[in-house]
Amino acid sequence: MNKLIAIWMLFGLALPAWAGDEVKLEDIKLDTSMAAVERGADTLMNVCHGCHSLKYVRYRDLLTAGIDKKKVDTWRGDQALDTAMTGLLPDDTAMQMYGKIPPDLSLMTKAREGGTNYVYSYLIGYYITAEGAASNHVFPATRMPDMLGISGATDAAQRSEIQHKAQDVVSFLAWASDPHEEERRRLGFYVIAYLFVLTALLYVVKKQIWSRLKK
Ligand code: HEC
Repeated sequence: MNKLIAIWMLFGLALPAWAGDEVKLEDIKLDTSMAAVERGADTLMNVCHGCHSLKYVRYRDLLTAGIDKKKVDTWRGDQALDTAMTGLLPDDTAMQMYGKIPPDLSLMTKAREGGTNYVYSYLIGYYITAEGAASNHVFPATRMPDMLGISGATDAAQRSEIQHKAQDVVSFLAWASDPHEEERRRLGFYVIAYLFVLTALLYVVKKQIWSRLKK
């Protein structure tokens, strides 16, 4: 029992800042269409990839998903299609600049409690405090700058444009956390169909054998 409490305390102590306070997350309806995923990929490559890796996603996965080949070729440059989408920021530079290595984003929508809602709320959670400092509603002490610029939005239209951008990035990250889902679903369908046909055949065979035995 004591051991259990000790383990529980260990985890309790290890909880990062964002898990401490109850923050109300935005509730988004995720757009899983490939159009949204592709728009998200655009933003990710233009804005986030400078600092973040997606080490479990290969450029080929983007092609398989149907993202424009020209874009994928521009993004990967002279790297092979099977290269992982590793980031461009060396770890020691990141440490110098941010005091932290930006986490890999491949599984981010699964890694955080709140999933896609968390990532979305984080991206649009930046604001300027009364003292004029930058902060974030869901992760107040975050070292990441306000990359989408929500804290500087001056009117509703600009805000809504940034919110859309954030939504699309989250669509992309949700897809990225499971890029083979579609394939698996298709395979699942064939496996079930195969089992169905097999069952029917076995039934016919069984009938035939028993009809002979009964004679
Ligand atoms: C200038 C570098 C930089 C860019 C560009 C950047 N990030 Fe980050 N990001 C960071 C750093 C540094 C952290 C670590 C923050 C911390 O733990 O304080 C981070 C953390 C995160 C986290 C994890 C937050 C958490 O709960 O731990 C997410 C999600 C994230 N970034 C998403 C993005 C997305 C999406 C983009 C593009 C729109 C982006 N980042 C662009 C530097 C960057």
